[in-house]
Amino acid sequence: MANAVQHGCGPVCVEARGDGERVRIAVSSGGQPIPADALPKLSDPLTRAAPAAGRRRAATGMGLDLYICRCIANAHDGKIEVKSDERATVFTVDLPRFVACRR
Ligand SMILES: Nc1ncnc2c1ncn2[C@@H]1O[C@H](COP(=O)(O)OP(=O)(O)O)[C@@H](O)[C@H]1O
Ligand SMILES: [Mg+2]
Repeated sequence: MANAVQHGCGPVCVEARGDGERVRIAVSSGGQPIPADALPKLSDPLTRAAPAAGRRRAATGMGLDLYICRCIANAHDGKIEVKSDERATVFTVDLPRFVACRR
């Protein structure tokens, strides 16, 4: 959500949906799309996409937030996905409702 405020434009929409198996939390914002070639590595540590016009604030972060989100999602057997086009940038965290016990 902080990324949507910092890097996006317009209203930020947060949507949580769940079923018996999975829980998904999606955060959407507007603004310039993230370049397609930057998407696959966006959650690698110390990675930032090229700054685009129309962003709310200058990019001043360290490029660690999405990496930490990915680590948390992975630790819960989940994943984080991003889609970005002219209409919206949407980050989705997809988690299993129940995590198998690891011993
Ligand atoms: N909601 C968003 N809209 C547009 N770009 C985003 C959004 N979230 C992340 N990004 C891009 O992904 C990069 C990496 O994000 P992050 O890991 O949170 O690092 P930081 O915010 O410190 O730059 C950001 O620098 C930005 O280019
Ligand atoms: Mg950030």
